[in-house]
Amino acid sequence: MNVKEAFVSRRSVRRFLPDSVSKEKIENILEGAAFAPSGHNIQPWHVYVVQDQKKLSITKSIIDSIKDGSSKNMKTEFDYYPTEWFEPFVSRRRAVGFELYKLLEIGRDDFEARDKQMQENFHFFGAPVGMFITMDKRLATGTFMDVGMFIQSILVGARGEGLHSCGQVAFTKFHTLIAEQLEFKENEMLVCGVSIGYEDTSAPENALRVEKLQYSDFTTFLS
Ligand SMILES: Cc1cc2nc3c(=O)[nH]c(=O)nc-3n(C[C@H](O)[C@H](O)[C@H](O)COP(=O)(O)O)c2cc1C
Repeated sequence: MNVKEAFVSRRSVRRFLPDSVSKEKIENILEGAAFAPSGHNIQPWHVYVVQDQKKLSITKSIIDSIKDGSSKNMKTEFDYYPTEWFEPFVSRRRAVGFELYKLLEIGRDDFEARDKQMQENFHFFGAPVGMFITMDKRLATGTFMDVGMFIQSILVGARGEGLHSCGQVAFTKFHTLIAEQLEFKENEMLVCGVSIGYEDTSAPENALRVEKLQYSDFTTFLS
């Protein structure tokens, strides 16, 4: 697969087959991601790869916290989204949800079904492999660029192994539970979760193809 093909074929998959992924493939992805650039080469990332019992235990602690209501008091450690949305971003954001729920035949007011689908995040969308990427929270805002590039390397690297992925900021609300499960160091902050596995091509949610801008929409050429 050439580089452009890997970029273009990467998309967020939200239903995976239960088929296991070899350790070799996971190692290949991480070996590649290790080459991600970072300002001053500080390489500020840490990755936890979770499978089997550990993955199930994380799912259980999150779902339990939703059921017993304790998740209501949980907050993310950083703001990923603005508190107030505005155009053109609000429309793009809505379009993804709209298309996804349409494919799943979930009605606009069916909050129960929407909630259930949202909770699929915490089941890793059925993927056999989960990853949690962390950084030291004492670092500065710019470090998010480094970690973002690292995450993209994982997502694109997965394509090289014939795998698909989904980045999941949804996990960050539950960072206290995940920190406990993964025994984070002091100052370690969860930036993102990622699910990795083989795409279930029969799942309606995987028919989602979000609209992408043309490069000419976001590029200014000057000479
Ligand atoms: C950092 C990051 C976090 C994301 N978090 C979630 C998430 O929690 N749940 C989810 O279903 N999708 C999540 N996504 C996927 C986005 O919705 C998706 O990338 C976007 O709609 C564009 O679609 P594409 O990935 O198929 O190109 C996340 C993506 C990124 C980059």
